[in-house]
Amino acid sequence: MYTPSAVLLVLLRLGMRSAGAPQHLASKGKVQCTCKSTECDSATCWGDLCYFTVVEGRELRGCFDVDEQLQCVTMPEVYTKCCFSDHCNTNITAPVDTADEGTAVLVAMPVLALLVLSVGLAGFIWCWRKRQVKRCQREDDGVMVPKVSSKDEPTYGDMFDEFCTSGSGTGLPYLVQRTVARQIMLVECVGKGRYGEVWRGTWMGENVAVKIFSSRDEQSWFRETEIYNTVQLQHENILGFIGSDMTSKNSSTQLWLITHFHEAGSLFDVLQHRSLAPDSCLTMCLSVASGLVHLHTPILGMQGKPAIAHRDLKSRNVLVKKNGQCCIADLGLAVMQCETGDHLDIGNNPRVGTKRYMAPEVLDETIRTDQFASYKQTDIWALGLVLWEISRRTVVNGIVEEYHPPFFDLVPSDPSFEQMKKVVCVDQQTPSLHNRLHSHPILAAIAKVMKECWFQDPKARPTALRLRKTLSKLDQDIDHGLHKLKLDL
Ligand SMILES: Nc1ncnc2c1ncn2[C@@H]1O[C@H](COP(=O)(O)OP(=O)(O)O)[C@@H](O)[C@H]1O
Ligand SMILES: [Mg+2]
Repeated sequence: MYTPSAVLLVLLRLGMRSAGAPQHLASKGKVQCTCKSTECDSATCWGDLCYFTVVEGRELRGCFDVDEQLQCVTMPEVYTKCCFSDHCNTNITAPVDTADEGTAVLVAMPVLALLVLSVGLAGFIWCWRKRQVKRCQREDDGVMVPKVSSKDEPTYGDMFDEFCTSGSGTGLPYLVQRTVARQIMLVECVGKGRYGEVWRGTWMGENVAVKIFSSRDEQSWFRETEIYNTVQLQHENILGFIGSDMTSKNSSTQLWLITHFHEAGSLFDVLQHRSLAPDSCLTMCLSVASGLVHLHTPILGMQGKPAIAHRDLKSRNVLVKKNGQCCIADLGLAVMQCETGDHLDIGNNPRVGTKRYMAPEVLDETIRTDQFASYKQTDIWALGLVLWEISRRTVVNGIVEEYHPPFFDLVPSDPSFEQMKKVVCVDQQTPSLHNRLHSHPILAAIAKVMKECWFQDPKARPTALRLRKTLSKLDQDIDHGLHKLKLDL
């Protein structure tokens, strides 16, 4: 059985919304809802929709944002109803059978006991029970659910409490995640990585991406699931999370991570066949930097998040969205810094980052592994390499280079740790930059940023925030230039 308390916990945390009634919220199309849960600041809250839910007989009312409406799903154990107008959740009540399930069971028990005492009916009841049990077994055959607890095992709720953040959960309630996972139809395999496969699936007519982890990489699945479920990560430049699921079939465990699906695939895929104009290059670079700023920056408060370092940033772990922006994926190696700043949560993953993208201090093992800042600095090194990959595919003066991974001219494919160390630490090589880049204001500025990312001294590298500021300034300059051009015309 699942633990309603875990569901309750997540629902409570998701239900927290700012109270009060600022006029501008109404003008933005927000609705005002009745707020009744232990987390409400006042009797009302503002959101995109209102919810009413019953968990373990407890009635909760509050607000959801639009991206939380997947939770408007009723389960046998969790009744949820959503609506879209001001105070529409005030008078909703649960159907009697859901709310009164506990009472019904209490009344039925003595009656059942009497029946069992009746010799004539005992045989019948026995047969009937046997049939029921069989049917249950068939439905749940071999199913193992991580969000489930026996009395001795820790639940995800426990993990929440142990976890170092303030714990504002972000994903769907676990039960809903499981249900969603089991309604997905896998359509086609879209990619194979080092540790598993990615499939396009459909759920209620929508495309979703399902990453199926090999059991070799179960720690990445655990880590990514843990981070997505406990940290407020919704950001346009971070891959959107839908749910996680663990099933056991024929004695092997299947680990799924369900996320938004991006048709174009990874940045690595896109750069193979697409060349870019300078402004598209800037859009990509700026969006990856923005995703990294969101990861690296701690946000305080109930809706906050700890600082996170990625540790495996590379073009294969960046996806390209329809609007030309990118989002960062694969948090299986991420490390977190707790709110107080004095505790580092490194996780428990034997996997290491991708050698080709490793910073010099990782390769020569001088990295201060006890300091969170060190991990952010290695991300910046890798970000520089990603920007370099993008810039090679950008057309300036009619010239563009073909796609190659960083250090392609210095190490073979799948380089060893020692080969990378020789190039990056001993010879202190950095990727070369084509002359054409210096003749374009955007590319020249991006090239300058890259070089700063590749300082041997990790502390000398810019922060993600600094870097994003430099790139957004370029972006504004383009907008300004375009505006001026229009006025001149
Ligand atoms: N959310 C997604 N939407 C679309 N395609 C994806 C998504 N996630 C991964 N892919 C594709 O699947 C491939 C394999 O991904 P992954 O298993 O993370 O391995 P790797 O990062 O080693 O390439 C990616 O290179 C990409 O082409
Ligand atoms: Mg990946």
